[in-house]
Amino acid sequence: MTGFTINGRKVDVAAEPDTPLLWVIREHLKLTGTKFGCGIAQCGACTVHIDGEATRSCITKISTVAGKQVTTIEGLSPNSSHPLQKAWVAEQVPQCGYCQSGQIMTAATLLKKSAHPSREEIVKHMDGNICRCGTYPGIIRAIQRAGKETPAQTAAVTPVSATVEASKGGAK
Ligand code: FES
Ligand code: FES
Repeated sequence: MTGFTINGRKVDVAAEPDTPLLWVIREHLKLTGTKFGCGIAQCGACTVHIDGEATRSCITKISTVAGKQVTTIEGLSPNSSHPLQKAWVAEQVPQCGYCQSGQIMTAATLLKKSAHPSREEIVKHMDGNICRCGTYPGIIRAIQRAGKETPAQTAAVTPVSATVEASKGGAK
């Protein structure tokens, strides 16, 4: 049993210690906004925040998040009101959309460190997030747009205790 907090909700998950966090998020907790892309930390589709740091959940063992704060795209804001989410819509960034939650979660950590990043800073920070649809120009515009807005960077938190009994499973 591993206990941690996800999007402000305390959970205890029954899973083998080496189960990837991504599996737990999607299969056990049914938060499917976080995507499985490569499974080997090469694409960024599975990016979540662990204690505020962008992290590849596909290679993160569930045992390593015990007692930590995990935030997924569902917890980035209460109602898609995060400046990045609004900017993503305004700039019409997504194509197929598959990579986009990972892109936004990675971008969110950049804006925490630098509210008004340069184009070069954005390109460098986002370098590890792959988009097979080639939405990179829109991603850069959206991050710059979000940087001009109020940098409200807190996750939605509604503490609720929960126990999740589950076993290993594959991503959908
Ligand atoms: S699925 Fe984790 S980096 Fe690609
Ligand atoms: S929008 Fe299709 S992979 Fe990025």
